[in-house]
Amino acid sequence: MKIGILTSGGDCPGLNAVIRGAVLKGDRAYSSSFVGFRYGWRGVVNGDFVDLNRHDVRGLSRQGGTILGSSRTNPFEGENGGPENIKRMLAENGIDAVIAIGGEGTLTAARRLSDEGINIVGVPKTIDNDLAGTDYSFGFDTAVEIATEAIDRVRTTAESHQRCILVEVMGRHVGWIALHSGMAAGAHAILIPEQPTSFDQICEWVESVRDRGRAPVLAVSEGFRLSNMDQEHSHKGLDAFNRPRLGGIAEILAPEIEARTGIESRSVALGHLQRGGVPSAYDRVLATRLGMHAVDAVEAGQWGTMVALRGTDIVHVTIAEATGGLNRVPDERYEEAAVLFG
Ligand code: F6P
Repeated sequence: MKIGILTSGGDCPGLNAVIRGAVLKGDRAYSSSFVGFRYGWRGVVNGDFVDLNRHDVRGLSRQGGTILGSSRTNPFEGENGGPENIKRMLAENGIDAVIAIGGEGTLTAARRLSDEGINIVGVPKTIDNDLAGTDYSFGFDTAVEIATEAIDRVRTTAESHQRCILVEVMGRHVGWIALHSGMAAGAHAILIPEQPTSFDQICEWVESVRDRGRAPVLAVSEGFRLSNMDQEHSHKGLDAFNRPRLGGIAEILAPEIEARTGIESRSVALGHLQRGGVPSAYDRVLATRLGMHAVDAVEAGQWGTMVALRGTDIVHVTIAEATGGLNRVPDERYEEAAVLFG
């Protein structure tokens, strides 16, 4: 078979390892040939692709980013978009199937194209770990390592100056990165989108740390929101807190905490640092296995499925299952961590 691979949406450490795993397995086990679409769905709608062979992917598992490039292009939009145009482009170029590596948006598009009769297999990708249907997605472990190191580093400077420091990590809708890095680094509180928390409660944790002579360090997801905003925004800065723009939550909270508690406070947002650089060993192995199993699914004609991690096994689920809802942090996981706060 001739298989087209694309990487779409926000990039993620491990994308290249998926490409390498797929190409090497396909070449060895099935004599498949490969092309790589450039910049995600944009390459599909524009018929923009490059040949990929085993020599092109050698040494790729440790390389960050994606050799194919990525974009947030919607394949249903534009004059060359839509299922009929894509089918025509694939047929004209003899491409039998597509492996789409992406997050919720990418996989939702993949599911719709699969429903229209295009041969697609999905591979889950997100540092946020917010996709349903898989226990973990590659990129998450790397992001947690980076965030953990950042919180560890912030702690020493916080202690030197007896300051409160908030570390903002990625996570638009879910708090997995904050939960894991916060637990690993011993943050004094973890603030995540699934658990809106009152400003009073946050200040209580901060003050209790200060009262025992330590410097409070907090892990905050970019998607975190305060509870009970109306009653609580005694300070003008908090008005901006529930604005639609993403990011900057820690920057808004820090001066408010300082004003309320009298503890000098600072913030740092890690942003795209969490997506850049080399993948962890765990992510390289997971991504490689997912790539290899995606080729198995293609060769078995399991269209509309996604490869996923269950325990230590790679399984096949429907893309519909993976895009049917977010993988949120369960209450009990948060409560387990919250025992350690303050
Ligand atoms: O990949 C998901 C994510 O990392 C979110 O946590 C974050 O909000 C978003 O990507 C940032 O995307 P962009 O690179 O488009 O700013």
